[in-house]
Amino acid sequence: MLEHVRQFDPELADLLNLELGRQQDGLVMIPSENFASPAVLEAAGTVLTNKYAEGYPAKRYYTGNEFIDQVETLAIQRAKQLFSAEHANVQPHSGSGANMACYEALMQPGDKILGLNLAHGGHLTHGSPVNFSGKKYNFIAYGVEKETEALDMDVVRKLAIAEKPKVVLSGHTAYPRKMNFSEFADIANEIDAYAMADISHIVGLCLAGEHENPVPSHDVVMTTTTKTLRGPRSAIILSKIIDRLQEKYWPGEKKNLAQRIDFSVFPTFQGGPLEHIIASKAVAFKEAMLPEFKGYQQQIVKNAKALAQSLMDNGLRLVSGGTDNHLMIIDCSKLPVQNGKVGAQVLEKAGIYTNMNMIPFDTGTPFKPSGIRLGTPALTTRGMKEKEMKQIGEWIAQLLQNPTNDALIAKTKQNVKDLTTHFPLYSELK
Ligand SMILES: Cc1ncc(COP(=O)(O)O)c(C=O)c1O
Repeated sequence: MLEHVRQFDPELADLLNLELGRQQDGLVMIPSENFASPAVLEAAGTVLTNKYAEGYPAKRYYTGNEFIDQVETLAIQRAKQLFSAEHANVQPHSGSGANMACYEALMQPGDKILGLNLAHGGHLTHGSPVNFSGKKYNFIAYGVEKETEALDMDVVRKLAIAEKPKVVLSGHTAYPRKMNFSEFADIANEIDAYAMADISHIVGLCLAGEHENPVPSHDVVMTTTTKTLRGPRSAIILSKIIDRLQEKYWPGEKKNLAQRIDFSVFPTFQGGPLEHIIASKAVAFKEAMLPEFKGYQQQIVKNAKALAQSLMDNGLRLVSGGTDNHLMIIDCSKLPVQNGKVGAQVLEKAGIYTNMNMIPFDTGTPFKPSGIRLGTPALTTRGMKEKEMKQIGEWIAQLLQNPTNDALIAKTKQNVKDLTTHFPLYSELK
């Protein structure tokens, strides 16, 4: 596959091969990572990268879009069908940019929006003070309860009624429990706010019926196309066409909600769309329509439960005591590693890839948080099941409890490599 790169740029080809080897020989457990299929990868590397196509199908600024329009229309149709959405914009380059476009379509600068506390699982774009979201909008955070480390929807409702935000945002990047999307939508309805969900992490689970699909009950839903959806690094926005609150919040505005979303993506924040990535998204949507996609998502959850159980059986504390989805968070504060940064580094030495993460009510900082976030989407793509999760949970617990034992790290690294040989990945790419 790298034939031409290898010929022209051996230095780069070597690096690409080393990265392929790292993915093959290690355990990728970062819950936002996955292995896209060869078809998804191939579509992303096509001649569509050559085309400038500012605008939307049949409304382009340049000529030569006969086939590009068909590609983008196919991606739109598939996204709408897959998610039961009235409207789909498939042009956002990334999740952060897509969230920016959603906020722009729903709010004016300074408007109030309710989002999940970052230390409790919210994403950077859900109101971090260092991010555009926290700088441009007035984010009010809801959070988990201290006892359960889970959301109490009565508390969220009371906060929403007291604060009266213009948008109620649900979704997360590090919350191990189910989110009750219809209750979020009810709360938004109750206070005349827009209901928006960012399902970037759990998108596959929503599609497979493991979690509720918020698209029917929400005004706007954003998702990245990586992670549990297994597509390319990108995002899409799904929305209603009609704005049920147009009179109240946008009097005199001619554009409906779908048109405002489209206008926010282009020309407000983006120029030409990445049509090769849109083609790749179309492939991922087709894959997600296959019956086996559902089985894959079910196995992700079964694997996460087995991994969580193994970690807890081996003495680790998990935030909220387990998981309902694809991810979990280990509390490292009482372990010899003391924090998630050191913990993730120790695991990395053994070829186990996770990421440091804040935990609810963390006494650490974002650069030295108490937690490690890990999950099962990528390992499940490789075909691993509960038996492997139990074993991996034991290895992780041993390493976090003995972080300076170099012999253990070396032995585990070898065990990891041996395990991965039974679950081949991208053998056709070598
Ligand atoms: C919930 C959520 N929203 C948005 C994003 C941002 O996506 P991107 O990294 O593509 O900008 C992420 C990425 O991890 C995410 O988890």
